[in-house]
This record gives sequence, C-alpha cells and structure tokens, in this order.
Amino acid sequence: METLRGRHFLTLQDLMPEEITAVLERSRELKEKQQRGIPHHLLEGKTLGMIFQKPSTRTRVSFEVGMWQLGGHALFLSSQELQMGRGEPVRDTAAVLSRYVDGIMVRTFEHEQVEELAAHAGVPVINALTDYLHPCQVLADLLTIEEKLGRLHGVKVGYVGDGNNVAHSLLLGCSRMGMEIRVGAPPGHGPKREVVERAKENSRRWGGQVLVTEDPVQAVDGVDVVYTDVWASMGQDQEKAARKQIFQSYQVNQQLLNQASAAALVMHCLPAYRGEEITADVLEGDRAVVLDQAENRLHAQKGLLALIM
Ligand code: CP
Ligand code: NVA
Repeated sequence: METLRGRHFLTLQDLMPEEITAVLERSRELKEKQQRGIPHHLLEGKTLGMIFQKPSTRTRVSFEVGMWQLGGHALFLSSQELQMGRGEPVRDTAAVLSRYVDGIMVRTFEHEQVEELAAHAGVPVINALTDYLHPCQVLADLLTIEEKLGRLHGVKVGYVGDGNNVAHSLLLGCSRMGMEIRVGAPPGHGPKREVVERAKENSRRWGGQVLVTEDPVQAVDGVDVVYTDVWASMGQDQEKAARKQIFQSYQVNQQLLNQASAAALVMHCLPAYRGEEITADVLEGDRAVVLDQAENRLHAQKGLLALIM
C-alpha cells in the first residue's frame, strides 16, 4: 500500500482501518517468509534510529531483529547518551538524525516529545511507547487476535486495570477495527476522556462498541479477550505500593476469568507482575497468548516498517 510510504505512526488514529488491515496482511506475509526461511530484504541499505528514554526488552529486540531480517540496520540510542539528554532541543535532534537514518523509533515519557520529533523529522517516526500511547503493542495484539480468532470485527475485548498507555491504544485500535472494547478501571484511574471520546467516534463510524466502567466484572462479562497490564507503569514506581491497594479488586485471576466467554484469550503486553495485576496460574494457563503477542511485536513491526520506510 503506497499511501503508507513516508508516514509517521504515532497513534492508531494515524492509520485508516484499511491501512491497519494492510499492515497486518504484510505482517502475516513476512511472518510466513521468516518461518520458511525465505529472505525478504525489503529495507536493504536502510537504517532505523531507536531512541529510548525508558527501559525495554521486547521493543528494542523486536525492532532491532526486525530491521536485520529486512536487510537493514538498527541503531540503539539511549537518550541519556545523546546530546538530547543534556538539553539539545528535540527539534534539532529530529532534523539531524533525519540526515543520517531512514526512520526513527522513539520511546519517551511525554507524548508531546514524540509529536515534536515527528514535526521536525524528514523521515517516518514510530511511537514505541509514551506515557499516553503504545500503538506498536496494539498492532501486534490485533495481529494476535486475528490469528487466534480468525477475525477482528465484532470481537469483544475486556481490559481490566489501569487506564494507561496500553488501554488508550487498545481503545483507539479496537474501536477503529469495529471491535467491542471495554475498560474496567478504579475511580480516578480510568482512561483519559478525550481518548474515550475519540474511540466512541471511531466506533460510530466503523461499527464497534466502547464501554468504560468501574466494575471489573462488567468489563469482562462474556468477552472473547481478557487483557491487563501493570498497575504502575514506567515512571510511576514511587506509586507502586499505593496502587497495589487501589487496584486489588481489578486483578485478573481465575474467578474474574470465569466471567468471560469459556474460550476467552488472556492477553498482557508484558512485563507482568505475577500476584499483582494477574495471577501466575492465569498468566501461564491454557488461555494465555502472551508469548504470541510478544513474538508478534516482531512481525507486526516488520509489516509496518516495510510499508512506511
Ligand atoms: N510490551 C513492551 O513494550 O515491552 P518492553 O517494555 O519490554 O519493550
Ligand atoms: N503500561 C506499561 C507498558 C509497558 C510495556 C508501561 O508504560 O510501563
């Protein structure tokens, strides 16, 4: 799909549903090629710069390996070791890097920094997590759900826990694909209102459904997918103890899972904290597809990179 060439990916809202479908199709195709050992050097000679302000296991490794498999190269750039870490403006960093690399992947705290980077970069910028959104994760999650359930439209996803970056991207991504997305979060920790509004607009246009509730049981009642994420995200470590109290009744355990459809998938973007947002038996149980999600980060991002770079 040539319309994607040169485009940024900061949020799922940047892609029309048919463009998301095109990325997922390309991802499946490249996954199959990789599994059969068929070379697919679509990005030969191209370089991706990867700026990290926060730690990462999956994102760093999947982008780096993905670029390698596509015949290109990835450059790990810790923000602490860049001049950006000592105050060089984001806009200058963006302009300079664009003279060297063919794409920039970035993980930051403030979402505005990624937006600023994109505004001043001459190459595509990919959001690899901000405090606000985590669109690459949800691209991989959509790929996983489609692989497991054979469809996206009409699938019911129940997210329980903190209304964080992952919850926001799920709201936007699922509603854009005509899915039902519910979020169950404690008072004061729900998703941001503007994200919920945007998700509702998406669902009106593309036939999905959006529900935000404080009741964890209502969030998962009869759903096809139960999803959770950490209670304290990166940058919130000092709130960890307080959050453990607040979120206690939002744990994904067998009892809560029993409220979902009998064959419901269990999803988590990882890293997970057993005994907090999810019990070990559920995380490691028959219905969990968390490792497929993690693997699909590689394939989904390769599909994206191949189309935008
Ligand atoms: N899910 C995810 O983004 O993991 P990392 O923080 O390890 O990259
Ligand atoms: N919400 C989590 C996701 C980690 C991949 C965080 O931001 O830390």
